[in-house]
Amino acid sequence: MDSIGSSGLRQGEETLSCSEEGLPGPSDSSELVQECLQQFKVTRAQLQQIQASLLGSMEQALRGQASPAPAVRMLPTYVGSTPHGTEQGDFVVLELGATGASLRVLWVTLTGIEGHRVEPRSQEFVIPQEVMLGAGQQTGLDRSTLISWTKGFRCSGVEGQDVVQLLRDAIRRQGAYNIDVVAVVNDTVGTMMGCEPGVRPCEVGLVVDTGTNACYMEEARHVAVLDEDRGRVCVSVEWGSFSDDGALGPVLTTFDHTLDHESLNPGAQRFEKMIGGLYLGELVRLVLAHLARCGVLFGGCTSPALLSQGSILLEHVAEMEDPSTGAARVHAILQDLGLSPGASDVELVQHVCAAVCTRAAQLCAAALAAVLSCLQHSREQQTLQVAVATGGRVCERHPRFCSVLQGTVMLLAPECDVSLIPSVDGGGRGVAMVTAVAARLAAHRRLLEETLAPFRLNHDQLAAVQAQMRKAMAKGLRGEASSLRMLPTFVRATPDGSERGDFLALDLGGTNFRVLLVRVTTGVQITSEIYSIPETVAQGSGQQLFDHIVDCIVDFQQKQGLSGQSLPLGFTFSFPCRQLGLDQGILLNWTKGFKASDCEGQDVVSLLREAITRRQAVELNVVAIVNDTVGTMMSCGYEDPRCEIGLIVGTGTNACYMEELRNVAGVPGDSGRMCINMEWGAFGDDGSLAMLSTRFDASVDQASINPGKQRFEKMISGMYLGEIVRHILLHLTSLGVLFRGQQIQRLQTRDIFKTKFLSEIESDSLALRQVRAILEDLGLPLTSDDALMVLEVCQAVSQRAAQLCGAGVAAVVEKIRENRGLEELAVSVGVDGTLYKLHPRFSSLVAATVRELAPRCVVTFLQSEDGSGKGAALVTAVACRLAQLTRV
Ligand code: BG6
Ligand code: GLC
Repeated sequence: MDSIGSSGLRQGEETLSCSEEGLPGPSDSSELVQECLQQFKVTRAQLQQIQASLLGSMEQALRGQASPAPAVRMLPTYVGSTPHGTEQGDFVVLELGATGASLRVLWVTLTGIEGHRVEPRSQEFVIPQEVMLGAGQQTGLDRSTLISWTKGFRCSGVEGQDVVQLLRDAIRRQGAYNIDVVAVVNDTVGTMMGCEPGVRPCEVGLVVDTGTNACYMEEARHVAVLDEDRGRVCVSVEWGSFSDDGALGPVLTTFDHTLDHESLNPGAQRFEKMIGGLYLGELVRLVLAHLARCGVLFGGCTSPALLSQGSILLEHVAEMEDPSTGAARVHAILQDLGLSPGASDVELVQHVCAAVCTRAAQLCAAALAAVLSCLQHSREQQTLQVAVATGGRVCERHPRFCSVLQGTVMLLAPECDVSLIPSVDGGGRGVAMVTAVAARLAAHRRLLEETLAPFRLNHDQLAAVQAQMRKAMAKGLRGEASSLRMLPTFVRATPDGSERGDFLALDLGGTNFRVLLVRVTTGVQITSEIYSIPETVAQGSGQQLFDHIVDCIVDFQQKQGLSGQSLPLGFTFSFPCRQLGLDQGILLNWTKGFKASDCEGQDVVSLLREAITRRQAVELNVVAIVNDTVGTMMSCGYEDPRCEIGLIVGTGTNACYMEELRNVAGVPGDSGRMCINMEWGAFGDDGSLAMLSTRFDASVDQASINPGKQRFEKMISGMYLGEIVRHILLHLTSLGVLFRGQQIQRLQTRDIFKTKFLSEIESDSLALRQVRAILEDLGLPLTSDDALMVLEVCQAVSQRAAQLCGAGVAAVVEKIRENRGLEELAVSVGVDGTLYKLHPRFSSLVAATVRELAPRCVVTFLQSEDGSGKGAALVTAVACRLAQLTRV
């Protein structure tokens, strides 16, 4: 087709000018029309190609790839959160560019109550042409550099400048106002943010007005220019500038080329020029002028208006395209353009309008489908349910635009379930919302920080814990009143490797109850079985508990073919016992959720022996009872002779270590060492930790089955950390900081937030997917801000736990170093417990704290692989070896 020029009109020419060649016949006319409209048809394959090409450019721009230059900009907007619906306050909004050549000033009141809206008050000011033509990349919410003007604006001295500063300067020049500029917001962001919160998250904003663009919420870690790996940020795609010869070339018509050529910015914004409202009227005008010139329309006559740029406005196209508009109205519009349309002209003009607008909607759909695919990729979701806020006059006033858009998006992105939500009052409410959301986030952050501040312990606080622990240890060893019982274990040496034989072991008091067969030869072979202890048994009668234990042993012996054999047995019993010998331990009190009656104050070995007698079916030779810390130390000591400390951070927490016998009151002898079970879980039960205890610790303690007891353990171990987190989450919800302030019944349930969630959540801090998945499983509906806050709560709670534990270990290693009068001590700690093993940062935080508080000790942490049952068997083996020696 020939090039179509709109020029050729002399200034002031008012009359019709008609083609001098003869008019084409009816069949030629229809061919010409077909040929012309055919150019605006876009195939599905072409749309798919545009979608793929745009998606590629978007991902390229997100990665920060400079060469080849991406075809879209993907500008981060520093809007990191969508509205809650609880935002409130009064805001002034200036809207430039959204409604063409005008500046709209709005006063927006947000009520903070869903469904209760106050209509914004606004005034519109027309910007004179000379101001638009006379003489922004965002770097923060209130700093924005204009990169280039689009949509007919071209003021000098603005491109490359911070528009907020220009606005502030202008306000200052006027002198009369005191206005604080808080946020610069792209109209797409305003549209997205102004969307009424509904069932689906509204995380995409689409504007088709004078120009076109979209924004959406991207994971911050995918945006290379941001130095941020958490949370989300709204990215303005700036798709108006998209151009790709391969994808767009085939759909560009000669009319598009002419329009571009005659525009203010030839070569730029090629995609926008096929979709934006500023250009639709112009495209229609070019087609009509062409058809008139060819003699197909208006009897071959053009008018000066038809040949003048900008004479057909978007409003005209919208009206003429609307099927409900009668022929008379179309006729009138054409007449206003100085044309004299016949009846067939009216129908044809309507076809032209429809073809231009349908193409615009389809192209827009391809672009929107690209955004949805990008969103879907970044969320790593198979399917996506999302609401898209739409704004701008093309969307609002064009009868078919949104329906074509929706239908085409469904074809191009079938895995996305999209609902289009028209914005109610332009982007103004949304812009106010951005400001309000920023204010809300700042307020919430303050509240979060205040809540978590008591969990953030400094060096002095930790050193004080270490010092208190040292004091309590000394008192406990001397037999004075102390929250640390410092119980002698009658274990005097770690294994020397000469132990031999087959042993049975029991391991009671951790997550699992185990029965084990331990074969000690030149190495150690273990066969074990896990049995459950139902809560009703753990909290029932003592007789029931010990009968259950014996039943499990019988079952194990049968399974292992050991029935009838009386193997020596070591019993890991992970509760505080005052031992009178290796095979005698008086249970002082239950801990960790056990509460079987008639056991406290009794010898546990006797209770077991009585149950064996009751069962008659087995013969067992109980040789040793050991705490799990001791079992762990022995087990690791078998591999590393420097292992003189045992540490458990699991359901409960505790430590044992090799103390000089001369320091241990109540055990005869002054030389050699004995392993001391500190029972440090009870540290602070005399009130000495009161200065560190938070209201949340108090709540957890009060709700436990042993209030006032095991205060150190309740700040550190797995049985309680989840509960502390749950109480903090409840508090933050009551402050309106989390879950939109809605109290959620599930969160009221005790123990619903397991400590293993802390480990899982903190393992995947980057994606925050884990947090969402876990909380959603719990039925807690959360936003990505909520997810981030929950993560921070978990981190604060587990960090304090690890540091307190580190302060305890520092006290122990320093004590050993001083006992031995050493300048420097190298020592190993055998460690067990699910929290220590599974939590991603716990072990390194413990080690770092120990380095800080005990700089003269080189401490190696060894994780016990085989559990403490192996250690109990080794203690038993040593005892058997010694017994044999005495018999000899
Ligand atoms: C196990 C030991 O590996 O760890 C037990 O064998 C110990 O004796 C337990 O009590 C501690 O961890 P948790 O997390 O099971 O309480
Ligand atoms: C509890 C017990 C203690 C045990 C620790 C770890 O604190 O009282 O004996 O060592 O839990 O399991």
